[in-house]
Amino acid sequence: MKLIVEGGNSLHGRVRISGAKNSALVLIAASAIARGEVTLDNVPKIADVETQLEIIRAIGGRVEWQGENTLRLALPDELEVAIPYQLAKKLRASNLFLGALAARCGEARIPLPGGCNIGSRPMDLHLKGLSLLGFDVGLDHGCIKARARRLKGSNIYLDFPSVGATENIMMAAVTIPGTTVLENAAKEPEIVDLASFLNALGAKVRGAGTDLVKIEGVPELGCTRFSVIPDRIEAGTYMIAAGIAGGEVTVESVIVKHLQPLIAKLQDVGLEVDAGEEAITVRRTGELRATEIKTLPYPGFPTDLQSPMMALLCLAKGTSIIVENVFENRFQVADELKRMGARIRVKGHTAVIEGVERLLGAQIKATDLRAGAALMLAGLAAEGKTEICQAELIARGYEKLEEKLTGIGARVESIQAP
Ligand code: EPZ
Repeated sequence: MKLIVEGGNSLHGRVRISGAKNSALVLIAASAIARGEVTLDNVPKIADVETQLEIIRAIGGRVEWQGENTLRLALPDELEVAIPYQLAKKLRASNLFLGALAARCGEARIPLPGGCNIGSRPMDLHLKGLSLLGFDVGLDHGCIKARARRLKGSNIYLDFPSVGATENIMMAAVTIPGTTVLENAAKEPEIVDLASFLNALGAKVRGAGTDLVKIEGVPELGCTRFSVIPDRIEAGTYMIAAGIAGGEVTVESVIVKHLQPLIAKLQDVGLEVDAGEEAITVRRTGELRATEIKTLPYPGFPTDLQSPMMALLCLAKGTSIIVENVFENRFQVADELKRMGARIRVKGHTAVIEGVERLLGAQIKATDLRAGAALMLAGLAAEGKTEICQAELIARGYEKLEEKLTGIGARVESIQAP
């Protein structure tokens, strides 16, 4: 798929933000632990969610969309414990069935996951956690195998506050007798959403959102109806769009607290930001100023908004610095931005961006989801037409992208083309 972007229009209007991709994906996997039917509201209808639902079907679950964004999931007593490689290779979040199936069935067989090529993305912390909980874990023909041996609550320290490892360990531990203490846990809002969902199912998870999470095992989980939190990365992308294209954009149905790191940076570069109860307005009134960004685990600046911010900083007066501390290969977008006239030097984990007067539309390619979003933003500000190929990568994470963008005055169109 190609996304064609005609640059030069400033943006004006309101965008309703969808449910969070990175919460919906883990909640869908976690629904496999529930007994009976689970209803999830505010689920974004995006490619990654559809793939995660294919996996639910493949392990024996029934899935039904109700209305726009409500899902009903019913998992039978007997589940498949192996997920198909053809599906697992499509997205990183397939690995979240490791903890869910381990908790529900006492075993799991998960192909090493696919997803954005932004780094090696090993699974060592996931495996260390499950092993400490008493699972036999190992690699077998490209699959992670976990089988319950002597399950017991355990103290687990994460060398890095990995989001996925925190989620998999939390899920695996909820039905293990005793107390599990997870130290140096990830604190992302999506972790808090997962803990709230598990507790709504009858689990006993305390401390989510801090670096110390405690889980009291319970025999089994029930069912529930639950609403997914808004997507802070989607919201941030539209906020940055207002900065790069000019104009005034309001994102609605957001949790302002989740966007504090970005709000601070957008004010740094000279944008006006008004935060209300559940909406944030970003207005561009003058030129953009250079700044420095270091990505960090939450509540630091989110790595998923690093590429979109790089696009913005290409047009900021002065020299900006970005240090990427979470992934080791997340500057691929720089080469594509340079094809549009950007001046970026990458050395290891650091990118130095010299602001330029203008970007020029070009034929470029999305290398991963957030890089694709960044190139879409650059196209909004560039002179002339930008053609982004592999644009299906962008659709993976942004619900109704074209509709939302054209609704605020952007000229974008997707075409089926190589
Ligand atoms: C989640 O990925 C998100 N994906 C990512 O969003 C996000 O960028 C990332 O968290 C960080 O916030 C989903 O939630 C589906 P990590 P995850 O484990 O869980 C290293 C997007 O664009 N690590 O926190 O895979 C790893 O290599 C996506 O929406 C280990 O070393 O991220 C990386 O350098 C992209 N060993 C760092 O930790 C492990 O066992 C952070 O990874 C696990 C991770």
